[in-house]
Amino acid sequence: MKILVIGSGGREHALTWKLRESQLMEEIYCAPGNPGIAQEAECHPVDVADPKAILALAQELKADLTVMGPEAPLVAGAVDELEQAGLWAVGPTRAAAQLEGSKIFSKQFMQRHSIPTARFEVAENFESAIKALANFKIPVVVKADGLAAGKGVVVARRREEAEQALDEFMRRKTLREAGGRVVIEECLTGEELSFIIFSDGKNLLPLVPTQDHKAVFDNDEGPNTGGMGAYSDDAILDNGLKADILQRIALPTLAGMAAEGNPFRGFLYIGVMMTPSGPSVLEYNVRLGDPEAQPILMRLRSDLVEIFKGARDGELEAIEARWSPNPAVCVVLASKGYPGKPEVGKVITGYDAAESQGGVKVFHAGTAFHDGQLLTAGGRVLGVTATGADLKSALDRAYAAVGKIRFEGMHFRRDIGAKGLKRMAKNSARKGMAPQSASGAPKP
Ligand code: AMP
Ligand code: GLY
Repeated sequence: MKILVIGSGGREHALTWKLRESQLMEEIYCAPGNPGIAQEAECHPVDVADPKAILALAQELKADLTVMGPEAPLVAGAVDELEQAGLWAVGPTRAAAQLEGSKIFSKQFMQRHSIPTARFEVAENFESAIKALANFKIPVVVKADGLAAGKGVVVARRREEAEQALDEFMRRKTLREAGGRVVIEECLTGEELSFIIFSDGKNLLPLVPTQDHKAVFDNDEGPNTGGMGAYSDDAILDNGLKADILQRIALPTLAGMAAEGNPFRGFLYIGVMMTPSGPSVLEYNVRLGDPEAQPILMRLRSDLVEIFKGARDGELEAIEARWSPNPAVCVVLASKGYPGKPEVGKVITGYDAAESQGGVKVFHAGTAFHDGQLLTAGGRVLGVTATGADLKSALDRAYAAVGKIRFEGMHFRRDIGAKGLKRMAKNSARKGMAPQSASGAPKP
């Protein structure tokens, strides 16, 4: 089978790496890819937001299977385009991708189907947004309706901050049309969880749970990013909470989309806040998370193409994915300036040595290869991913590998997985065992 992966980030590197292992893989391509992906697959240029260009490439390469990594092609209708031409694509149609493409659509959808989510109001212009803001306590959350690459959500700790976000989105149009309409919503508190499922439109296969680290600095401080690291550990989610999320959120979402004529096929990322009154949906993404995909795919033992085939053939129900019981973690190395404008073009060293230790894989995101050197080329540069017998050893391995990599201005969080270690310590204290250290990262 000829497989084509669309995208160029760490998630797509992990997807390509995993799909390459498939028994069914004969040839694997990625578009546009990156230097890390180029080591595993033949890369071709493409504009990921142009469904017609994706179709033309899939036809030229005679791809039997095209897997969409990021949201842009999905929201633009790439899956519709390929399916209309009789090709097999993994991901939701444009109509189903509205769950991510429009915050207003997704909030109103949850309201229609009684899926737990924060109370909200929609505003179509600046004046009505300011009026709506008065109906919420501080902190409050302001969300641009459209896709904004992680820049469309502001958790405002002061009223002026919310007003400023509204001014930027709606009057100064900093996000162009994506910020023309907004959602204003109540701020929820609790621990966040990334619950990702794979669906054929009706049945679902839950992936192993993950936690992202959205804020740029340790202790969840500073502005939000696309994700500074993630870990996957079964202990994140107990069976009771998992059943609750399935019954109250995941299944009603799939049933609601199907009932509205837009069955959801593909990966559905449900961002959940575990509030004191139960799980509540923060957001839907219509794809795997980045960096969540990296630890998830590292733990997957099943053949991913078999899972995709099961969904295509309506046999997903019969498929049981096999997972490594061992946790996995991904630490993102970012450029100076990120999540603002990153400084790029810096020489990266030590990435090969970082992988020399077993159980470590360095996934590329914003990198470029030039004159025999690997250079930084984006905000998130590398995702150092490792697995271990327990969370602590996975973290030790990942941070030991991180310690070998250098580039000017490199920064990363030193507390990836710290919430998981705390949970472990609490659980073992409850069982009367000695608690473990709550710090997995070496000191700077
Ligand atoms: P979103 O793109 O909607 O997931 O928002 C990005 C991040 O903003 C989430 O991962 C949360 O950390 C935060 N966030 C979004 N909505 C809320 C909310 N209602 N209450 C608290 N935090 C939120
Ligand atoms: N890590 C969050 C996302 O992929 O949207």
